[in-house]
Parts: sequence; C-alpha cells; structure tokens
Amino acid sequence: MLTVQRGVSLRPYTTFGIEAQANYFADIASETDLNTLSQLNEFTELPKLILGGGSNLLLTQDFPGLALRLTLGGIDVVREDDLHIYVRAGAGVVWHELVMYCVTNNFAGMENLSLIPGTVGAAPMQNIGAYGVEIEQLFDHLEAVHIETGEKRRFGHADCRFGYRESAFKHELKGQYIITSVTFRLDKTPTFHTRYGAISETLADMGVTDETMSIRAISDAVIRIRRSKLPDPAEIGNAGSFFKNPEIPVSQFTQLKATYPALPGYPTSDELVKVPAGWLIEQAGWKGYRAGDAGVHAKQALVLVNYGRATGHEILALARQVQASVLEKFGITINPEVNII
Ligand code: EPU
Repeated sequence: MLTVQRGVSLRPYTTFGIEAQANYFADIASETDLNTLSQLNEFTELPKLILGGGSNLLLTQDFPGLALRLTLGGIDVVREDDLHIYVRAGAGVVWHELVMYCVTNNFAGMENLSLIPGTVGAAPMQNIGAYGVEIEQLFDHLEAVHIETGEKRRFGHADCRFGYRESAFKHELKGQYIITSVTFRLDKTPTFHTRYGAISETLADMGVTDETMSIRAISDAVIRIRRSKLPDPAEIGNAGSFFKNPEIPVSQFTQLKATYPALPGYPTSDELVKVPAGWLIEQAGWKGYRAGDAGVHAKQALVLVNYGRATGHEILALARQVQASVLEKFGITINPEVNII
C-alpha cells in the first residue's frame, strides 16, 4: 500500500550521505503503487525526485516536492534463443545483485560492471559503464510508467538515445517517466573484455590464465580494482566519478601532450580524444585535498567525498573550484556526471 510521509530526511537514501529533507516521501514497491500515485491529485503539480540507490545524486537543498524511492524487485529469465538469455530485473533491484545473479548462472556480459553502486532502474539513466563495457551493449528494452498519466510504455535501445553517461532520461524525458523494469540481453558464450586498465594485470596477480579465464574471474578482478581505488559509500560518502571524462579536439590534445608528455588520451573519433579527468584533477594538485568534510578522494581524484558532515553546498563549491583550476591549467572544461539538485 502506498504511504506518503511528510518531512523525511533523504540522508540515508543517497550515497553522498548529505542531509536534505523531502517535503513528501513515498516508497514505490509495485506498479499498483504507481497507479495509486497517479490518481492522487494533490501530488500532481509537485516536482518529483526519483531515487534508485541514490548513488549519482548531490542534494544541495531541501526538496520541496515528492521524493519517490523505487523498490520494485524481481529478477527473471524471460526469453532465450540460441545465443542469448534475456533477463528482466525490477527497477529497485541492487545492480550488483543482478550482476552476481548473471555471473553465478554463467550469463555473460555484465561481469565488468561488478560492484557499481545503485539500482537497475538508474542504470539506463546514465548508461552506466566501467572497464570497457557500458550497459547499452547489453540493453534490450525497459518498461516505464508516465508519472502523471500512469500510462505504461516500452522503450527500445534507440528510444533511450544512449551516450557516454547519457540517455534521453537525463534530458528530454527528464522527470516524466518512472522506469519499472529493465530487460538485458546476456550471452551464452562469453567474450572476455580484459584490455581495459588494470584488468589483465590483476587477473595475472590472481593467477588466472587463458585456460582458467571465466566471467567469475573477471568479476573478481573488477571487484578487487574497484575496492582498491573507489571509496565504499558505507564508509565515506561519495557518488562515484563526480565528473565525466572530457573529449577534446585532437589538435588541443597534441598541443597539451607537448607540455605534458604523460597525458593519457583515448581517441573516440577521428577528431576527438577522451582525456581522464582524474589525471587532470590530480595534476592540478587536488588529489587528497580536504576542506572541512568535503574532499577529493586520495586514491581516485575523479571522486569527490563527504567525510561526514559536509553540506551539498560545500561539495558543490569544491567541485566548482576543481573545475576552475582544471580550466585554468589545461584549458579544458570538465562537467559533472552527478545529478545536482
Ligand atoms: N588517473 C590519474 N589520477 C587519478 C585518477 C585517474 O592519473 O586520480 C588516470 C589513471 O592513471 C588512468 C586514467 O586516469 O590512466 C583512467 O583512470 P581509471 O581507469 O580509474 O578510470 P576513470 O576514467 O577515472 C572511468 C569511469 C568510472 C569507471 C572507470 C573504470 C567515468 C566518468 N568514470 O573512470 O566510473 O569505474 O572508468 O572503467 O567515465 C562512475 O561513473 O561513477 C565511475 C566510477
């Protein structure tokens, strides 16, 4: 049954662990709850804040509207063909639990995305990705309900307009739909993605050889790497990468490389090179910086952290300082990946 509460602290529902109150708050555990909500006229006009795992969100003020926390569960195999298994998961399923379900059942494709914080419903919003894989590669379709009309709609790959940490749900469809489930297409025969970053080194350290390679081994390696670099939100508040990695013109990259020979870069087209913002931020001197309880993570400069009682404004002020200094030093604008409310 849908219960709408008043004056609820959102601190426990976001991984940044920042205090902010929602005027109204409700858990959405089923499609029935969504139907009930669309019939409650008193909430129609209010702004809505949709919370999955709250792992990509920075709250800088109290929320005057209705915060909805999605807890719709369920993981089911819905279809299968010669090459693929189709798995549907409820929007409230914890992402890593879905990855573990697939790894355990030997459904291949998600192993590089192990341990990403957040929920299934939030995953397509920003096309989550790590270690050479993005969810758009595994995405089949999703189901969503229009917040105001209660109308149910199916979105295919093209409808979502996926990009690097982007989708239509962050832009033209923002705030309109609640994603209720996502169906993924997993492979019966794995393709191992081990080229990115430290994966192959870590697999070697773990004693994994070509003969013993498996999706479980890759998942274990990714978990090891993430634990070594990224802060656990249960211990230190954070929202993963705070900024996106910027893409710059090849000509600018070549010029910068003359001054900074160690500058890493990955071409994304004939004209553009993606540069790691973490490297730029570290070179600008911010890695490990702390002001009060707001800081730049000491092991991965792309992650801003809340050591305890930082406010959203303090984190945002730090983000702006970091942005300004990267722009001044390198002439590159870095943009937040996190949703700032
Ligand atoms: N680097 C530094 N200093 C730092 C951080 C990074 O020099 O403080 C350098 C590294 O040495 C490496 C390069 O930057 O050469 C890339 O670093 P890393 O592999 O850690 O990845 P990233 O580009 O910083 C992205 C994603 C992460 C994802 C990792 C692994 C974005 C915005 N972030 O980070 O995603 O886990 O790749 O695939 O694309 C997230 O989105 O929240 C997130 C954590």
